[in-house]
Amino acid sequence: MIAVLGLGEMGSALAAAMLAAGHETTVWNRSADKAVPLVAKGARLADSPESAVRDAELVIVNVQDGAVAGKLLAAAGTALAGRTVVNLTDGPSEQASAAAELVADLGADYLHGQIMTIAPAIGSPDTVIFYGGPRAVFDKYEPVLRILGGRGTHVSDDPSVPLLYGMAIHDIMWGLLNGFLHAAALLGDAGLPLTRFADQAAPSLSALPTLFPMLATEIDRAEYATPFGALKHHLPSIDDVIAESHSRGVDTELPTYTRKLVADALAAGHGDDSYSRLIEHFAPR
Ligand SMILES: NC(=O)c1ccc[n+]([C@@H]2O[C@H](COP(=O)([O-])OP(=O)(O)OC[C@H]3O[C@@H](n4cnc5c(N)ncnc54)[C@H](OP(=O)(O)O)[C@@H]3O)[C@@H](O)[C@H]2O)c1
Repeated sequence: MIAVLGLGEMGSALAAAMLAAGHETTVWNRSADKAVPLVAKGARLADSPESAVRDAELVIVNVQDGAVAGKLLAAAGTALAGRTVVNLTDGPSEQASAAAELVADLGADYLHGQIMTIAPAIGSPDTVIFYGGPRAVFDKYEPVLRILGGRGTHVSDDPSVPLLYGMAIHDIMWGLLNGFLHAAALLGDAGLPLTRFADQAAPSLSALPTLFPMLATEIDRAEYATPFGALKHHLPSIDDVIAESHSRGVDTELPTYTRKLVADALAAGHGDDSYSRLIEHFAPR
């Protein structure tokens, strides 16, 4: 038996996937009306978090934020004893640590998961969910968790790590998206159709993420020497982007920020180093 606490957009998709896979599922939501479509598919509606978890082996929590999740787990209380909680709620990593501690005090096992997709993709074999918590607990429930996302992966025994992974990916995404939008403004001002650019420049664009493993190795080892593509070669290209942006009336804040990072590193004598040397700006050693 599975319990799902929280039936927003995502929680409803999680419960629906469990029902579709044939699992007996009990659901609870603050606003009971959201349970109606799930009850029609065979879910049992509980009238409190405590009664929802009482007969469940696996308790899935997915609500707005970590503070709400913590309140629901506390409300379920000792009825959680002997169960396994899988909290799929987003939030700062400390909220996963706090929920893990609370759940352990109540006598239950705990995994935290970070869903890396939108609700309609729940149940897809390609859906990535990062899990953290005891490996043995993940291994025991992996077949059930794969119902939610075929690429469910255990990333750490520490339950807070999946949230950090999620943030890292969002962080990278915003950097890439901002760069793409700035480039789109430049190309747009020049009257160049963006779709044609995306098509013709596809090999260059798709090569960008292939740099990440190399940068990761350099940063992990704190070894920044490089025979090619050194920081000193970036500066003229950045200046070109700033000058082009300026002359076309495109906002220059983003490339100017990049220029500052590179210029500071050159001033510190790191001109012959890899771009990864700029980690020292973000995380001074
Ligand atoms: N939607 C997505 O595609 C997506 C993708 C990845 C991750 N997530 C994560 O999944 C979680 C849920 O997202 P969502 O999109 O499903 O949000 P949502 O549709 O806004 O649903 C929020 C849920 O939290 C409940 N809730 C809010 N405040 C509450 C309170 N004080 N007490 C009890 N329940 C409360 C809501 O209950 P009511 O129905 O009573 O308001 C509802 O069940 C979030 O952490 C989100 O970041 C969502």
